[in-house]
Amino acid sequence: MPGFELFGEAEREQVQQVMDTGVLMRYGFEGMRQGRWKAAEFEKALASRMQVRHAQLVSSGTAALTVALASAGVGAGDEVILPVFTFVASFEAVLALGAIPVLADIDDTLTLDPKAVEKQLTPRTKVIMPVHMCGSVADLRALKTTCTAHGLLLIEDACQAIGAIYAGKPAGSYGDLGCFSFDYVKTITCGEGGALITDNGLFYRNADQYSDHGHDHTGKDRGAEGHPFMGYNYRISELNAAIGLAQLLRLDEFLGIQERNYSILKEKLVGLPGISFRRVPETGVENYSFLSFFLPEEGVARRAHKALAEAGLDGCFYWYDNNWHYHRKWEHLKKAAGMGPLSTAVRASLLSMQNRDFSRSDYWMGRTISCLVKLGWTSDEVSARAASMASVLRKVL
Ligand SMILES: Cc1ncc(COP(=O)(O)O)c(C=O)c1O
Repeated sequence: MPGFELFGEAEREQVQQVMDTGVLMRYGFEGMRQGRWKAAEFEKALASRMQVRHAQLVSSGTAALTVALASAGVGAGDEVILPVFTFVASFEAVLALGAIPVLADIDDTLTLDPKAVEKQLTPRTKVIMPVHMCGSVADLRALKTTCTAHGLLLIEDACQAIGAIYAGKPAGSYGDLGCFSFDYVKTITCGEGGALITDNGLFYRNADQYSDHGHDHTGKDRGAEGHPFMGYNYRISELNAAIGLAQLLRLDEFLGIQERNYSILKEKLVGLPGISFRRVPETGVENYSFLSFFLPEEGVARRAHKALAEAGLDGCFYWYDNNWHYHRKWEHLKKAAGMGPLSTAVRASLLSMQNRDFSRSDYWMGRTISCLVKLGWTSDEVSARAASMASVLRKVL
């Protein structure tokens, strides 16, 4: 990641085709569009690549999560269990619907710990939302078992893991719904965009309508369409979809490059005393967008992070201190800092997080460094980088 590094003729050609028609909206304008429907084409290609029946494109990964939850009927007071290590978008989507985000610990997979999820179940729980952080999947089989036992939905936040695999299925396709982000820094990008995928025909129909103000998309006159329920505007534009379509057709090329670069980096670090790697759940395959590893303890991880930056090795993240990805810096969430009033139930639940103990997660995150795997590196560049990383880490270990 990220796909913008390899923008080329394919992306330019797709954009040009949209500009030639002048139709930037995904719906309507049949007479002008010369048969070009980039968003619809992208959805068809994405559903096929992800081996599901349906894909719905929207304006961002955050929108994909919001629309997925809404389409599955999540609303005021429902609880959604999600991990303490994610991007703020995961809980924002829940809050946008008046539902309640409930945080649970991660384990050495850096994703939801299924045992920690069990402890957060209440009669109000409606969804378990694992987040496949940094290119690798959660233990979906265990989470699905919990969902089945308690009548819950499994919604995968696969925004950072397109191309990863679990139990032979593409990440995002195992649960009831799966969500992707195509924002500017993702493995495939369309600038700003996202998508949800599902095999569930009802959820798909809801998503199609909800993401476009509730339009039922029947007939050819938008003004005459019905509105079965209240929706919102999460539409993607044809321009964004065109770039994304070109990038999707290159996904396997990008994954191959990521895997090569990841393997070169990892080979140099394997065997360094004190370094171990994030656990990938059984049957899981990473998309190789990050190489994540554990140092023996927090102090060493901090020193390693500093030394890597000083050696000019960019893109090595220490999430433990990051303002956006880890619960420690989510004071705004724990203080229920909304711009306007929140419902009593949401507010009470958010404030109660201040007393929660996430030391199991802190144990793993305090020792973790994740290094971005770039697409643009040549073999020589990544080999030099690997040698340099190993040398820096050897000195701090
Ligand atoms: C795990 C996760 N979920 C959701 C999102 C939101 O995606 P977007 O930026 O497209 O809204 C991101 C974006 O970084 C993410 O990393």
